[in-house]
Amino acid sequence: MDKKQLKMSTFNDALAQIKDGMIVGIGSGSTIELLVPKMAEKLEQEQIDITGVCTSNKTAFIAKEQGIRVVDVNDVEKIDIAIDGADEVDNDLNLIKGGGGALFREKVIDAMANRFIVLADESKCVDYLGQTFKLPVEVDKFNWLLVSKKITAYDNLLVTRRMVDDVPFITDNGNYILDVVLNERIKPMEMHEYLIHLIGVLETGYFLNITDQAIIGTTSGVKIIEK
Ligand code: A5P
Repeated sequence: MDKKQLKMSTFNDALAQIKDGMIVGIGSGSTIELLVPKMAEKLEQEQIDITGVCTSNKTAFIAKEQGIRVVDVNDVEKIDIAIDGADEVDNDLNLIKGGGGALFREKVIDAMANRFIVLADESKCVDYLGQTFKLPVEVDKFNWLLVSKKITAYDNLLVTRRMVDDVPFITDNGNYILDVVLNERIKPMEMHEYLIHLIGVLETGYFLNITDQAIIGTTSGVKIIEK
């Protein structure tokens, strides 16, 4: 099975947890873009109704296109369940997210949900956060270089501003993303605390103690890990 098939193998277990009337947080990235049409199919087949709250403009567009009702996060009091992808998942279900640059809205919605489920293929499972993926950090455009230097100073870390076709990537919030090469010595909670207090940082891609369940597609079957 290729990665796409492994990602899709997680869908049944995730969709089974969506019930009539729920407010559902809908994540971002290629996994979720494949999930949304399946979600719409389920609503149609089971004749149930949900309200979606989306973590990016792109996901909101796709969800609406599929006929899912989407509202603004400020218009809901709670989110029953959120389903999202991840770039890395460690053994304690802590994550790195933000490969698509949607980390701020993802964190707002995933952390607000009563239950947060992460879907990933087995290549995303790591021994420590930063093993295979850089840590995305969303920063204001105004002082991004100063922030970048302060991040480097933490542990002589390599920091790059994310670019797309030679142009800086801009988030849905109008900011830049800095990608930070981590190492095994770095403790995620301490690093997050350092970063979040730098003036100009909006949010980090560390998702610590947020995940309730991980559904992992592996070549030997679907693995469900409950927190
Ligand atoms: C978006 O900003 C990310 O956090 C994605 O959820 C993450 O990158 C997973 O993406 P894929 O589903 O494309 O692997």
